Amino acid sequence: MQLNLRPELDTDYQPIESLLDSAFGGQYESQLVNRIRNTPEYINDLTLVAVAGEQIVGFIMLSYVTLVSAHTESQVLSLAPVAIMPTYQKRGIGGRLIQESIRIAEHRGDPLIVLLGHADYYPRFGFERASLHNIYPPVDWPDQTYMVRTLSKFTADLEGKIRYSPAWKIV
Ligand SMILES: CC(C)(COP(=O)(O)OP(=O)(O)OC[C@H]1O[C@@H](n2cnc3c(N)ncnc32)[C@H](O)[C@@H]1OP(=O)(O)O)[C@@H](O)C(=O)NCCC(=O)NCCS
Repeated sequence: MQLNLRPELDTDYQPIESLLDSAFGGQYESQLVNRIRNTPEYINDLTLVAVAGEQIVGFIMLSYVTLVSAHTESQVLSLAPVAIMPTYQKRGIGGRLIQESIRIAEHRGDPLIVLLGHADYYPRFGFERASLHNIYPPVDWPDQTYMVRTLSKFTADLEGKIRYSPAWKIV
């Protein structure tokens, strides 16, 4: 299958919304994406679609969140959501999108990617438990599901709690 990965365009918003709603079976993720697009946390270079033929079959968004350390605050990346159209899942497309976004983040010089996700899936891309680096979510999510991917600009002083903006509606 010929697959093209590229940043999203305005004209992709509607098919992306349908894809997210069918992959997740609800609207939280599509509405989250819509809200993030309207904040300074949005990064077009890291909001990618996977296109097969003319059809959008996959989507990934990385956006800024804040790592609050004892004396400083740093911008790091949050990976969410990633989704593949149900009929195209388990063909490696999710993996391609994740690897491509890691490559772009490395190239940009970002230090770190955080995510909340399936503990069986992300370690193959170099994600590990965030708590191993003294990095913690804002609320009490299960330890093995909160993960980080350190990039070459990562330094050990990057530790603390991740703060999500109101767009995430995390209480
Ligand atoms: C999770 C998702 C993005 C993976 O994309 P994909 O293209 O289907 O995955 P890939 O083909 O790259 O990889 C397939 C592998 O992922 C694993 N996988 C897929 N969904 C998984 C899940 N929910 N939990 C654990 N592993 C999962 C498969 O078991 C398979 O493992 P294997 O290679 O050991 O057999 C996709 O299945 C999806 O959109 N799911 C619904 C939305 C979702 O849950 N998003 C992630 C939120 S954390």
